[in-house]
Amino acid sequence: MEICPFSYGRGVRIAYFLSAFANGNCPVSTISRIEARQILDSRGNPTVEVAVYLGKGVSRAVENVQSMLEPVVIGHDALDQRDVDERLIAADGTPNKEVAGANAILGVSMAVARAAATHQGIPLFHYLSEGGASMLPIPMMNILNGGSHADNNVDIQEFMVFPVGADTFSEALRMGTETFHHLKAVLKELSLNTAVGDEGGFAPDLRSNEEAIDVVLEAVDRAGYSAGSEIFLALDVAASELYDSDRDVYCLKSENRELNSADMIGLYGELVEKYPIVSIEDGLSEDDWEGWEQLQGAIGDRVQIVGDDLTVTNLARLQQAIDRSAMNAILIKLNQIGTVTETIDTITLAKENGMGAIVSHRSGETEDTTIADVSVATGVGQIKTGSASRTDRVCKYNQLLRIEEMLGSRAQFPGMEVLGHKAGG
Ligand code: PGA
Ligand code: ZN
Repeated sequence: MEICPFSYGRGVRIAYFLSAFANGNCPVSTISRIEARQILDSRGNPTVEVAVYLGKGVSRAVENVQSMLEPVVIGHDALDQRDVDERLIAADGTPNKEVAGANAILGVSMAVARAAATHQGIPLFHYLSEGGASMLPIPMMNILNGGSHADNNVDIQEFMVFPVGADTFSEALRMGTETFHHLKAVLKELSLNTAVGDEGGFAPDLRSNEEAIDVVLEAVDRAGYSAGSEIFLALDVAASELYDSDRDVYCLKSENRELNSADMIGLYGELVEKYPIVSIEDGLSEDDWEGWEQLQGAIGDRVQIVGDDLTVTNLARLQQAIDRSAMNAILIKLNQIGTVTETIDTITLAKENGMGAIVSHRSGETEDTTIADVSVATGVGQIKTGSASRTDRVCKYNQLLRIEEMLGSRAQFPGMEVLGHKAGG
């Protein structure tokens, strides 16, 4: 019997286990039992763990997953992921998976995929890609945390180092990690706090958002890397959190400034001129579609413009963003869309429309590493999974190191061409 953990998180947070064992009475890839239990995520919030058993099993009543989802997949083939996922979607019956919950559905969907890979005796990334995957992702490493993921005064949620100039994944990870270590030294010298935020990056109080960029660039320099050719910067502004809808302004509290949508676009224009920033996520609030169109029009040919809260990994929102030319890349959070099949379909739609895609963790996470496999299987070339500290973040990077080793000389590592502003040509 094999046990393989994996996870996701937000709201009701989720992790999954699977276990596969053969039984002579039925085809061995037949789903026979599902188990669910509550575990904790990286912030001590409850999440769900799901186990799928292949072969003959015994029935146990374990909450929602069992009562609603288990009956629709029992007896069906774990190797037919699309069929399993369609059954789960139909069992819930709502567009946003409100009845069973996207986390519960994804738990079953992912556990089935793992059971199938285990049954075939191949790694998950290999199974999900149907054998063809060989490209590792460039890690977007969030080494300085602000916004709602930290207790400091920094407005922008994530300051990420992005080692696009590396030749291999392991080299990129080393570059980001060394920069993270040097950042600690830089902050200590400035007598600033070096405790970490939710995603494992430092969370010091600073005088401005630009000061955050400056300390990160100082760390890049001290680590011996060249900013703008080896290491670039990526931001997740999470601007919905800064937006005051009553007054239609964005509040940058650390700088005591209030900006409207056009001012924000102007600010990004200045920042990308001044700094080696190549990716900006959620630069504007999630309902400011006109602003997003203008942002994409203003700098979308020079910078990756990433929708996260704008698109919430939703096919209809992605289609709207495509129709409106509102961005050039999408963040992919598996527990927002809710099944493996729909995750792959969303990435496919983005790629077909010349957009970049970034497979992402959640701020609340577990030790599960499935997104590492998904990032390779889908060949998106970019992953966002936090800093080089906290096991809930580092475990994904460690899994990518294992995958890189498994691929050996077949392993490929992308460059700037996978970013949304380049992917579209
Ligand atoms: P979340 O944050 O998991 O709290 O949504 C991640 C992000 O904004 O990218
Ligand atoms: Zn985000």
